[in-house]
Amino acid sequence: MTTTQRLLEHVDRIGAEHPPIDLATVDFTVRDPALVRERFGHVLDYMARVELEVDRNVLELGAMMPDPPEVDLQFYRDVWRDQEVAHGQVLDRLQQVIGRPAAVTDTETVSVRLRLLGVLARVTPIQDMVRMLYYLTGMATERSAVIAYNRLHSGLLEAGELAIAETAIAPIRRQEPPHYAFYKLSARGLAPTLSAWQKWLVRRLRATTFAPVGANTPSQRADFGGVLVTLGFARDTDSFAHEISRVEHDLLRARRAGLRVPTYVVDALRDAVALHEARAGRS
Ligand SMILES: [Fe+2]
Ligand SMILES: [Fe+2]
Repeated sequence: MTTTQRLLEHVDRIGAEHPPIDLATVDFTVRDPALVRERFGHVLDYMARVELEVDRNVLELGAMMPDPPEVDLQFYRDVWRDQEVAHGQVLDRLQQVIGRPAAVTDTETVSVRLRLLGVLARVTPIQDMVRMLYYLTGMATERSAVIAYNRLHSGLLEAGELAIAETAIAPIRRQEPPHYAFYKLSARGLAPTLSAWQKWLVRRLRATTFAPVGANTPSQRADFGGVLVTLGFARDTDSFAHEISRVEHDLLRARRAGLRVPTYVVDALRDAVALHEARAGRS
């Protein structure tokens, strides 16, 4: 079976097995809203924003890839978008239940840089590189989501918040690994077709543009640092980085002696934590 056939099957299966979560199935009972707000409020807000902003991500993908493979379109337009938006709606409702304001999102602004990339991507070898960037970003994002939801789920269970742990976070968490699998399969299929210069350039572009999911401004990077701290990764950014960039590291052959993870990933995470701590110190 070709990679494309496997991907098509995978996308069909995700669509059939994972309909978008219906808000009516979520039990928003929170025993101790003040505690959840204090401990996890900013994590819920961060994740809600990132999930809701997939509407913008879909616009970005359209701008970046003028002529994507049909299976990519089917994935992000027909399956992925609706699932992620529902995740965002669940989390956003939850944070309002515990007395926080709704997430502030940008679902429309496509950057000039991405539009420019889209113009360049009319040339097939460039579009292949852009696709690679898309899959690598997707892998890092979806792994980050899985790790975050795992920690959030166990944190809420420990706090005795069974209803939201089991009916809000658990169903969201179940839908993320198939997204990761889509990007991994896509990246592994595409990598062997890229030439040495294409891989080199992809690596350069990743090194200069890498940002943790949803962290596009200094204040969002500090917010992400706060999420890392709450989820227990403040002193362990390396293992988080390793988790989210393992496959990328292998595919781009960036592995050098003694280097477990791409330095640009580790640096970005440490920077996020440092920004968060500096901001917390000021306030
Ligand atoms: Fe999600
Ligand atoms: Fe996802």
